[in-house]
Amino acid sequence: MQTEILGNTENISKQGNVLIIKTKEAEARIWIYSPTIIRVNISRQHNADTSFAVIQNPAKKLDYTETAKQLLINTGALKLEINKSPLRFNFYTADGKELSQDDARFGVNWQGTRVINYRKLYKDEKFIGLGEKTGDLNRRGSSYVNWNSDVPDHNPKSDPLYETFPFFVGLHGGLTYGLFFDNTHKSYFDFGASTDDTMSWFGADAGDMNYYFFGAQSVSQIIEDYTWLTGRMEMPPLWSLGYQQCRWSYMSAAEILDIAENFRKEKIPADVMYCDIDYMDQYKIFTWNKETFPNPKSFIDKLKAMNFHLVTIVDPGIKVEPGYKQYDEGVSKNYFATYPDGEKYIGSVWPGRCHFPDFFRYDVRKWWGASFTALTEPGVEGFWNDMNEPAAWGQDIPWMVKFGNYYMPEVRNAYGMQMAKATYEGTKKLLGNKRPFVLTRAAYSGTQRYSAVWTGDNSAYDAHMLLGQRLVNSLGITGMSLVGVDIGGFSGDPTPELMVRWNSLGVYTPMFRNHAMQGTKYREPWRWGKENETIIKKDIEQRYKLLPYIYSAYYQSHQTGIPVSRTLAINYTNDENVFDVKYQNQFLFGDALLVAPVESTRFAEDVYLPAGEWYRLSTGEKFEGGKAVNVPAPLTDLPVFVKAGTIVPMQDVIQSTNEKGDGILELNVWYGKNANSYVYYEDDGSSYDYQKGTYYKRSVHFDPLKNTISLLAVEGSFASKYTQIKLVLHGFDQKIKTVKVNGKAMKLAEGTGTFNNDNKTIKIEF
Ligand code: GLC
Repeated sequence: MQTEILGNTENISKQGNVLIIKTKEAEARIWIYSPTIIRVNISRQHNADTSFAVIQNPAKKLDYTETAKQLLINTGALKLEINKSPLRFNFYTADGKELSQDDARFGVNWQGTRVINYRKLYKDEKFIGLGEKTGDLNRRGSSYVNWNSDVPDHNPKSDPLYETFPFFVGLHGGLTYGLFFDNTHKSYFDFGASTDDTMSWFGADAGDMNYYFFGAQSVSQIIEDYTWLTGRMEMPPLWSLGYQQCRWSYMSAAEILDIAENFRKEKIPADVMYCDIDYMDQYKIFTWNKETFPNPKSFIDKLKAMNFHLVTIVDPGIKVEPGYKQYDEGVSKNYFATYPDGEKYIGSVWPGRCHFPDFFRYDVRKWWGASFTALTEPGVEGFWNDMNEPAAWGQDIPWMVKFGNYYMPEVRNAYGMQMAKATYEGTKKLLGNKRPFVLTRAAYSGTQRYSAVWTGDNSAYDAHMLLGQRLVNSLGITGMSLVGVDIGGFSGDPTPELMVRWNSLGVYTPMFRNHAMQGTKYREPWRWGKENETIIKKDIEQRYKLLPYIYSAYYQSHQTGIPVSRTLAINYTNDENVFDVKYQNQFLFGDALLVAPVESTRFAEDVYLPAGEWYRLSTGEKFEGGKAVNVPAPLTDLPVFVKAGTIVPMQDVIQSTNEKGDGILELNVWYGKNANSYVYYEDDGSSYDYQKGTYYKRSVHFDPLKNTISLLAVEGSFASKYTQIKLVLHGFDQKIKTVKVNGKAMKLAEGTGTFNNDNKTIKIEF
């Protein structure tokens, strides 16, 4: 096998904003994207420079200086030192601290078409990220492959899974850096798992060594930069944040209506019902089974009348069947993937023999998007994209299959993302000013712009529940905030205890969807005995109470890319304990809440509370952080803590997000020694009007030195659905019996008091 290592510089030139360095083996191009982001692309053949992930252009200007041995780029926030011979790339902070270097021996190299970058491994270096990857929070000592795969029955060690996010954050010596390897071929990451403990490496089967280096000095700033580069989510429809009930499959409209009715009868809040594959006629996409779903419109109207939204599944495989609309259209327009000679590729999935739309083409995406009328006309508002790795029985799609100008191995990892893009763009158009909800199983970096993801076919046991939380937290690092796991486990049957526990964690899962495989026990909240139903109901009620807080957390994701579920490594990066496998599943849910997942067989748990003060949400008990505490964890009370000084807006229980509720926003403030700010956000929850300023946003400041809580004037033109604000003080001096609201005394009853939701500044003195 021909092996080449990037060698000596032969020529240096600058063309506009790109620095070009030629060696005998290849050509390196360097762009600055922002003061903290530099792109390096090293290529032997100058592949067309397309990216599915990146939505930004490089800065217009690039300056460098040259010495005999080096080139130096200094953005003011990040330094790139380029050694000319051999050509090596070394990154430093603005004040000269070493962030990351090429391995001096091997740097970038090729073995056949395979391209690899070996980098120096620091003794204390940790790695986080890579999205939907099993294993520990700290990925040091592990290696991974990116090759989107259908993996039913995966276990907590399986790799690869369904999604590819080739972005990680490295941590050493108190420094942080990020690296995004934008290459859709099968790719490899080795975080010090090889026998050479001086290097880590990443590479791909082919394509360019094309990476973006992030030099910001905090994990959250790196996530902001990464999501600036690859995009951020839009505001999700509010209904998608409520409780979602799914099953493979509810077999008829009547069955779904029955389940929906039962939620209302039992007064268990819920917003979403799903149709899995059996709603279709012989699994033909964009059709309805005429016997079991005879009148989709009246069925969906009935759901709507009960305040439910419907999500239907769509798979990419189009059944080979002359006379079937999508088949005929696709064939006549040549919309399907082919072999090089034009023969249409056939793979078997649920409908039997299928063709696969070439989502890499604009015209195909447009056609696909327009086909959703079959679903949107009767009233579907959510679109679940499955089997889009793409999956076919037998899994291995021949490497000769072509999508557009690409062969399957070049773009497999982006196929699901392109399907989600087609679905999102098409349904957005069809729904007018309404936000579609799109959910996809396969994904690539940037998918957050189009869709939510879930973690695929998990299993009904405790280790899988904990794994699911790590996957959610890890996906958050790579820009995916709206993420779900199948609550209860897709395959197998959970014990009632596991079901209860998993639902209590579901409250704090960004997307709260209960789903199960055919043949398993029904999973709805009332299937587990009255006592358990009561506990699950209370948990789901808690989700609904928290919706004002959760929605504001999504606004943060929309604005900054910071995920709703945050591994503690984001905010407490330099605290070794957060990487301890014992505590690694813990996470912050929004700014204020710390959640500790607990197995269903344990009723007390060691929880690590980072520095600061914390209150247990359920009891108000106060804890000093910076240490582990052992706390009771009965099935009725998952350990959730509130950070001192934080603000959590809540509301009363409603049965669905369509309900107006009592019009009172509960502003919970937990006393702390330090001042703190919070941004509350609200809009209509369903349209795009917020993009034109129709929102209600206000900052809330807690100041324990001045003894004030201030609600700044409202920004935006939306009228809040809450006409009153109920202040709820936690952990404040018990002797405080009155506060002043804009100078006027207000009596507190057990630490609470209510005032009008005035859009102007509201100053509370305590
Ligand atoms: C796949 C999906 C699963 C779905 C099933 C049937 O296994 O991952 O969620 O229920 O297909 O459509």
